[in-house]
Amino acid sequence: MASFDAIIIGAGPGGYVCAIRAAQLGLKVAVIEGRDTLGGTCLNVGCIPSKAMLHATHSLHEAEHNFAKMGLKGKSPSVDWDQMQAYKQEVVDGNTKGIEFLFKKNKVTWIKGWASITAPGQVKVGDDLHEAKNIVIATGSEPATLPGIAVDEETVVTSTGALTLKKIPKSMVVIGAGVIGLEMGSVYARLGTEVTVVEYLDAITPGMDGEVAKNFQRILTKQGFKFILGAAVQGVDVKNGKAKVSYKLRKDDSDASLDADCVLVATGRKAFTAGLGLEALGVEMLPRGQVKTDAHFATNIKGLYAIGDAVVGPMLAHKAEDEGMALAEIMAGKAGHVNYGVIPGVVYTSPEVASVGATEEQLKEAGRAYKVGKFPFMGNARAKAVFQAEGFVKLLADAATDRILGCHIIGPAAGDLIHEVCVAMEFGASAQDLALTCHAHPTYSEAVREAALACGDGAIHA
Ligand code: NAI
Repeated sequence: MASFDAIIIGAGPGGYVCAIRAAQLGLKVAVIEGRDTLGGTCLNVGCIPSKAMLHATHSLHEAEHNFAKMGLKGKSPSVDWDQMQAYKQEVVDGNTKGIEFLFKKNKVTWIKGWASITAPGQVKVGDDLHEAKNIVIATGSEPATLPGIAVDEETVVTSTGALTLKKIPKSMVVIGAGVIGLEMGSVYARLGTEVTVVEYLDAITPGMDGEVAKNFQRILTKQGFKFILGAAVQGVDVKNGKAKVSYKLRKDDSDASLDADCVLVATGRKAFTAGLGLEALGVEMLPRGQVKTDAHFATNIKGLYAIGDAVVGPMLAHKAEDEGMALAEIMAGKAGHVNYGVIPGVVYTSPEVASVGATEEQLKEAGRAYKVGKFPFMGNARAKAVFQAEGFVKLLADAATDRILGCHIIGPAAGDLIHEVCVAMEFGASAQDLALTCHAHPTYSEAVREAALACGDGAIHA
């Protein structure tokens, strides 16, 4: 029986980061992973392959729509679907092998197989038992499908199947206007697929700042998306490889349906803890299926911890990574901590959408006095030069103290721009602190500074 300081179950961003940090802090660490490659959903069938597909199809869009404007004439590229898939796989392989390299470098043992926890401090993989002072559940999540919908990963797919469709569909119905639906919908819309998104709520991207969500919907509609909002999907019938999606409009209870070559079910994800033996062990769970933990990631069983999508909170790779690092520190006797008030969220469409902190709706609901500094990318020279002047930066600051409370960006490189606001918020900065910081010209970042200036005496270029 092999014995470790920490055994981490799952090698996604939560688990592998926890393992590397724990090893760096001197612990003897093993990671148990059942997939053939490390990196979990994110690297294998999530964040990374979808970003490769978004990059490839964004490049196609640029060639089709903007090259001629810049004097780059000639035939637009045609799509070689097999090569695009091969490129995506190469990106995935490079990243998953990178984690293998980091495990070797940091002396983290990879135990291949599916784990179950047989007793406190004891894990079984196949016929082998392993012992550890600390066990970490970092098993992530899986797509949550709807009743009445049978996913076959060919005609009716989750995000996993959407990455490996055999051919580009002529039409696609996306169920759910969340992040997955809009990112994968963008990939196919750019490839010429007719994309219709059916969403239960009356707005897209629930939880996003309302003004941003509205503009996002307008921009996506211009890109060819069709939206049917306030519609509850009832079921999907598949006949001869064609799907019929039936839904009920909530406003009048009327029934309607849509035909499509492919249906993407993107209605959320749920914690993946099946097969771990948690029930037999008496691990306390939450009503929605996550593992219950305290503020230090501890379950009710001594030495058993859980992080990432398997516990409450936003299902984001970087949230899991931060929890992994904090837990590694705790297991090494240090004070690990995650600031849940400053976790950015990014949608990697074009334009990108990014946010951190409170939305305007949340501030209103809390009865908080706030001010808004807004700056449109139309006033940003760099964005205009590259045909990306749609969107804006919206900074929210406390009306009395000027402390930054939130930021919402729709525009070029929003997913990178948001981080200067994250750092500012970590330091408790005011909008004026950002406004007084020199920003290089010409950069997209100037739009963030201008939004900060707009919280005070006014933006210069608006
Ligand atoms: P989501 O929770 O973001 O959105 C699901 C949407 O489906 C909601 O708008 C919901 O109202 C709608 N819906 C639910 N039932 C419905 C029905 N019967 N009919 C019509 N609409 C229905 O879930 P999504 O997009 O599947 O993503 C799952 C998780 O993965 C999220 O937590 C997301 O944050 C994360 N993720 C993050 C990414 C990123 O950070 N860029 C990329 C991909 C996923």
